[in-house]
Amino acid sequence: MIEQFKKEVDQGLSASPKTLPSKYFYDEVGDDLFVQIMNMPEYYLTDCELEIFSKKTQELIDAFDINQNQEFEIIELGAGDGTKTKHLLKSLIDQEYNFTYIPIDISQNALDKLEKLLYEAWPNQKVRTMQGDYFGVLESLREGKKKKIVLFMGSNLGNMPHDRAHDFISKLGVNLNKGDRLLLGLDIIKDRSIVLPAYNDAQGITKAFNLNLLTRMNRELNANFDLSGFDHDPEYSEETGAAKSFILSTKDQEVIITAIGKSYHFKKGERIQTEISQKYNAEILQEVTKESHFEITDKIYDSRRYFADVILERK
Ligand code: AVJ
Repeated sequence: MIEQFKKEVDQGLSASPKTLPSKYFYDEVGDDLFVQIMNMPEYYLTDCELEIFSKKTQELIDAFDINQNQEFEIIELGAGDGTKTKHLLKSLIDQEYNFTYIPIDISQNALDKLEKLLYEAWPNQKVRTMQGDYFGVLESLREGKKKKIVLFMGSNLGNMPHDRAHDFISKLGVNLNKGDRLLLGLDIIKDRSIVLPAYNDAQGITKAFNLNLLTRMNRELNANFDLSGFDHDPEYSEETGAAKSFILSTKDQEVIITAIGKSYHFKKGERIQTEISQKYNAEILQEVTKESHFEITDKIYDSRRYFADVILERK
C-alpha cells in the first residue's frame, strides 16, 4: 500500500508535466471534504443525479428490463452512503421485485454504515456488501446465473481519461453476461460558467480537497510541502469537456520526500495535474463504449439536462 503510494508519487513528480493520482484524495480528511463538496451549492452533479433517481425512478426500472418473476442482482460500484440508490431500492421493494443489492466499496467502514442504514429501512431486503476492488469482486460474482444490473454512478467514470474509461467499460463487459445492464452516471458538457465553479467553489472546499494531497504526503511519506507555497488551479474546456485540477507552485521551491529519499523541484507557476473530471457528449460516449460488448439503450436526464444516467445492454 505505502510502497505503491511512494512509487506513484515518485513517478508522477518525476514526469514532465508533473501529475499525482486522484485516488489518493480519499483519506479520512479527503472523504469528509468530498461529502462537503457534494453539499456545496456549486456542485450540481449530485443534485442532478439525485433528481433522476428520485423523480425518474420508474424510467430507470423500465430501462433495466426486469420483471417480478426473475431474480436479479443490483451491483453498485463505489456505493458511498446510498442516498441516491435508496430511491431506486424503495421503488423496487414497493413493487415486490426479487433482488439482492450488492454494494461494492474499498471502504469496509462505508459498507458497514450502509448495511446498517438499509437494514433499519428494510430488514427483509437481501443485501450483500462486498469489500474490495471492483473487478476482483465482479469476477467472483461472474459464475452466478442471475441477471446483473451494474451501477457506476456519480460521474466516477469522469476520473478516467478516454483510453482508461474505454478499458474499464470493456472489462466490465467481459465480466457480465448477455442481457445484463450497466448504468453509467455521466456529467454532460456544458457552459464553463456552470462547470468551473463546481471545481472552484467560493468557500474553498475544493481547494482544501486538492491541497489535502500535499498534507497526506507530508504525513504518510514524511514530506515537507509548505502549503502556503501552493494554490488550487482548476481549468475546463467546453471543446474537450475535460475539467482538470492542478496544484500550482506559487514560487521556486524544493520539496524533500523523506520516505522516497528524493527531493523535487517546483518552478514558480509550475503545475501538478491531480485530477481529470471528464464531461460527456454523444461522441465521447461512443468513443469509450465502442467495441465493448455494450449497446446504449437509454439516456435518462435531469430536468436541466446537466447530467445523464446512461443505460447500456450487454450484448
Ligand atoms: C467523485 C470523481 C465524481 O470529479 O466531480 C469533486 C471528484 N473532484 N470535486 C468529480 C471531485 C473535485 C468528483 N468525482
